[in-house]
Amino acid sequence: MQMEKLVSLCKRRGFLFQSSEIYGGLNGFWDYGPLGVELKRNIKDAWWKDMCQNHNELLAPPGAPSTYEMVGLDCTIIMHPQVWKCSGHYDLFHDYMVDCRVSKKRYRFDQVRGKWVTRDSQRVFVTTMAEPDHEEEDLTRRALKIFNLRSKDLEKLSFDSRVLTLDKIQPEDRALVLGPDANELGTLTDPREFNLMFKTYVGALSGEEGAAFLRPETAQGIFVNFKNVVDSTRIRVPFGVAQVGKSFRNEITPRNFTFRSREFEQMEIEFFCNPKESAGWYQYWRNRRLQWYKDLGLAGERLRLREHDADELSHYSCGTADIEYAFPFLPEGEYGELEGIAHRGDFDLRSHSEGKLDPKKRPLEVEINEHGQPRHRGSGKDLSYRDDLSNERFIPHVIEPSAGADRATLAFLCQAYDEDQAPDEDGKMQSRVVMRLNPRIAPIKAAVLPLVKKDGMPEVATEVYGALKKKFNVFYDEKAAIGRRYRRQDEIGTPYCITIDSQTLQDRTVTIRDRDSLEQWRVKIDDCVGEIEKRVT
Ligand code: GAP
Repeated sequence: MQMEKLVSLCKRRGFLFQSSEIYGGLNGFWDYGPLGVELKRNIKDAWWKDMCQNHNELLAPPGAPSTYEMVGLDCTIIMHPQVWKCSGHYDLFHDYMVDCRVSKKRYRFDQVRGKWVTRDSQRVFVTTMAEPDHEEEDLTRRALKIFNLRSKDLEKLSFDSRVLTLDKIQPEDRALVLGPDANELGTLTDPREFNLMFKTYVGALSGEEGAAFLRPETAQGIFVNFKNVVDSTRIRVPFGVAQVGKSFRNEITPRNFTFRSREFEQMEIEFFCNPKESAGWYQYWRNRRLQWYKDLGLAGERLRLREHDADELSHYSCGTADIEYAFPFLPEGEYGELEGIAHRGDFDLRSHSEGKLDPKKRPLEVEINEHGQPRHRGSGKDLSYRDDLSNERFIPHVIEPSAGADRATLAFLCQAYDEDQAPDEDGKMQSRVVMRLNPRIAPIKAAVLPLVKKDGMPEVATEVYGALKKKFNVFYDEKAAIGRRYRRQDEIGTPYCITIDSQTLQDRTVTIRDRDSLEQWRVKIDDCVGEIEKRVT
């Protein structure tokens, strides 16, 4: 599937728009249109129901070390700034970036990609951020221009087809790099740190005393409420707390449609367990989360689970696996992260409980410990847990399945896009675009279509529409030929079309058409709601 086709469909049919489009847009921000908002809401609802609400705490699900409980939270986006000091985000949450002195553009250090070109004994690295298809041509054109070569000189050049990132080459070779938008070599600066948190100011204090940050993850709201949840409910470890909400990261190079945005939504679980059992829970959540994507339609070789190497692990993690999807905008063989499942040990609860913030000191002030490292001053509150049956006291370990709602939405859209042939009203085969979305997440569950706009058919169709609308998001359409109306629904992933025809007027039955199999069958009007319900929930 070509990504451009999906992007254009998303705009044309109202799944996704660029934010502030009439002002030229704002890079890294996206709006969900009328269909997009339904799709994303259905994905978040499916996650909330499957992970949190419909979870039966009296039975241990297959693969789980024991029974467990789940509850939810909804925390604020702006929190006490010291939260980000303790979480490590204030000191460590940064990317390296390079600036181009000529184009004045900024790039993520690890994303400036390119290929080696060898000429005689001279090595030259030519970077390009062009799409893979255009890379070869772009590279050749640039090589000719930069080294003042003619086309026939190209034979003397050997192209190494490895795609490298700037961070993988030796610092001394960086002077030979051509910036993605530059026309001379060596214009990229040395890499510099760039904190990804958006800063703001709370209240009338515009100085550093009022400084605060938009949360870069929903997770910390759960950690700082750990004691509130335990004290206000009768919940016992092991248990999980789920939260869905917006997070913000000032990404240096937002790109690939919604994949890397600056404002996005996360669906996170912090699962608290006894350290002795945490390895088993880590396995359980990895498998459970992978299966969730499969059940909703991401399958085959495009979906995989990848265990992180030790050098990839975050500062807090003692084990992480990513659920990844081969998004069509990535080069062949590359995968993008959909969700990370991290074994965070007791890092967060310990960090938030250690030390005590000195009220005379400003939050975020750097304090150095005896090893010369910054001290993450916590709240000083005891965040340990006492098991009332065993009397054991411990700081729970945390397993964190952390998913992105926007990335999941994008993956489901990519997976669903298909083109095939379907017969029109005269039986002639016509090509169509069909979004094969799982009915559970499809924005519109059924379209109600009177065959013609007369003979009492619209009246019966209105009755059917009214009965269905009470239960699901359904759509009514009486304009254009029936084949055209089917195709408009196929293109947005509506799994069922219900047609009211002349036979309906005689026996009060309607036709239901299946988007994927194109099978059609008749049901009584009174059975219509039940017939759709059993297929879309
Ligand atoms: N609490 C852990 C955490 O936030 P993460 O891997 O940084 O971990 C979790 O983020 C998920 O959030 C990612 O797997 C991805 O789905 C989503 N995500 C992260 N940054 C994103 C961005 N810039 N745009 C869209 N989604 C993003």
